[in-house]
Amino acid sequence: MINSKFPYIFYGGDYNPEQWQKEIIDEDIRLFKLSNINIVTLPVFSWALLQPSEDNYDFDWLDDIFDKLKKNDINICLATSTAVQPAWMSKKYPEMLPVDFEGRRRHFGGRVKFCPNSEKYREFSVRLATKLAKRYKEYENLALWHIGNEYDNYCYCENCRKKFIEWLKNKYSSLENLNNAWNNRFWGHTLYSWDEVTVPSALSEMWNGQNKICTNFQGIAIDYNRFMSDSILECYLGEYEAIKKITPNIKITTNFMGTFKPLDYFKWADYLDIISWDNYPCYGDEPSKVSMRHDLMRSLKNGKPFMLMEQSPNQQNWQPYNTIKRPGELRMQSFQTLAHGADSIMYFQMRQSVGACEKYHAAIISHSGSENTRIFKECSQIGEELKMLNDCTIDSIFDSKVAMIFDWENWWAVEFSSGPSVDLTYIPQIEKYYKSFYKNNIPVDFVKPEGDLSRYDIVVAPVLYMIKENVADNIKNFVENGGTFITTFFSGYVDENDKVKLGGYPADFKDLLGLWIEEIDALPMEKNNSIEIAPFIPGFKSSYKCDMLYDIINLEGAETLGVYGSDFYKGRPVFTCNNFGKGKAYYIGTNAENNFIDDLIKKIASNYSLNSYFNPIDGVEITKRIKGNKNIYFILNHNTFETSLTLKNSYINLFTKEKVENSIIVSEKDILILEEI
Ligand code: GLA
Ligand code: ZN
Repeated sequence: MINSKFPYIFYGGDYNPEQWQKEIIDEDIRLFKLSNINIVTLPVFSWALLQPSEDNYDFDWLDDIFDKLKKNDINICLATSTAVQPAWMSKKYPEMLPVDFEGRRRHFGGRVKFCPNSEKYREFSVRLATKLAKRYKEYENLALWHIGNEYDNYCYCENCRKKFIEWLKNKYSSLENLNNAWNNRFWGHTLYSWDEVTVPSALSEMWNGQNKICTNFQGIAIDYNRFMSDSILECYLGEYEAIKKITPNIKITTNFMGTFKPLDYFKWADYLDIISWDNYPCYGDEPSKVSMRHDLMRSLKNGKPFMLMEQSPNQQNWQPYNTIKRPGELRMQSFQTLAHGADSIMYFQMRQSVGACEKYHAAIISHSGSENTRIFKECSQIGEELKMLNDCTIDSIFDSKVAMIFDWENWWAVEFSSGPSVDLTYIPQIEKYYKSFYKNNIPVDFVKPEGDLSRYDIVVAPVLYMIKENVADNIKNFVENGGTFITTFFSGYVDENDKVKLGGYPADFKDLLGLWIEEIDALPMEKNNSIEIAPFIPGFKSSYKCDMLYDIINLEGAETLGVYGSDFYKGRPVFTCNNFGKGKAYYIGTNAENNFIDDLIKKIASNYSLNSYFNPIDGVEITKRIKGNKNIYFILNHNTFETSLTLKNSYINLFTKEKVENSIIVSEKDILILEEI
């Protein structure tokens, strides 16, 4: 539970009362009550007001707001306000300001613009967090802590370079090891003194090209990402530890951003008491994309419930087309979040600003100030429904038999790679396989490559290019014991420093897959080939399109299930299966069309009867959360037409408290939450 004093779903979000006069704040609180808001996050960006100068702090204005909120029974997610250091501080201690990728020292401006290794930043941020904790530790409505905001601040300053050298010394012990790890004999890069290490930026090994950040030395670039992710984590941890000492029983979080590349969230997750994240889907994003990100966030802490810290009640301001949410869209998005394991639904923001870049970003209370807006009413309805749910879904968990391997370091390596194709990016490959499970309502967890696979039947690892220590054994153990493993092209090539493992790709997986890859062809996306399925394989069409990459495979024990339909490698294997121990390992050596993945997943899932609880209906998303011995089903009809669902047992509709059995109609764009009885 987020906080056992408050055993209900948190509903609310970011509130910026520092931007408003007293009368408006009073009116806001009236509107919060009206829309069933029970928590607000604040003050996220108020450092400059809380600390007007080096020796002066001012918490009086915040005390007043806290009093008002308490009188109205509204809880607080207390933000430490450290995402923007005051202008005076940046001026006085310019070393706080980061140096960007192009090598320019920034001036004060924007947000999250501080060097994560700045001693002064760390000292002042910890001091502020400590003061907040001491002042509000007895405050009854303190529900949880929110440190910083959307950390993302890579820096390339001299101070970071020095810290990078320390980090490298710690990791590699000797320069010889470092030169080896980075393959520094290439292009005459051998280093003879630690001080010769440069940070990889546009001034040294990196450049912005081919629609992505490119590098001459993948090993250096990946290590710098690791180092930056660790540095920013350390910065967060300074505040975390200070707060923990003072309020040991209040959970602490910071808001993640889903598939956000710069920070290794799996590593960070150990240092958050609860995962929270900000969900801002783009116009036209399919529901499965959002579900996948919820599942990834839930998986960071082994399936424990997470928080939705932010979503927009209506349009954003920062997308190319800031589409307003269609009627029911917000409600659907909100319950989709619960359906995937969240115990809160929170927004950015409560009241719309009058100035600066977010003034056209939606809020529950719009510029009109009215409670009669479409969005205010929809928010109130969601709040009403959450009240009905009370604690029914809180702390309930998932039971997934399918895991997809996800790895930030692998993501960095795949996309820093020079070749084989500019079209190869990591996330779309993950999304593609995820979607086939999603369509069949098969729950998926995400696991890091070295994570525990023993509770799963199926493990899928698209483009698992980097194989770190123990990973190959971890996967082999899983298959030996009867699991089914699926992997693809560009998997198993390199070690953790992006150095190729010799002896034919994928070196560590050759025995597992029963094959080795001699060459990998890359063609523009408009070219394609086909996978011709062997005639004796049921459940597949005879032929599927494929594109982008084409492995030339030599078999060493695997069975061919499909071959190429054209080019000089026509007739060579592209889709194979190998028996390994008690399990099976499938390999797909090309970027196969979605129908192929759908058919493959359907077939493999049916071997384990994974898709049993409701028959899949196109556009209807169904998940199950388990609370004690109770199964709770979330049924989300994304379609613009109603659908009838055949029920296997009897259930209580948690919105109406009515008993339902046999079948039930789910209206267009509607949601049902059914508890099995
Ligand atoms: C992020 C931030 C918020 C706000 C929103 C706008 O998620 O955390 O402060 O800027 O974006 O969409
Ligand atoms: Zn720096």
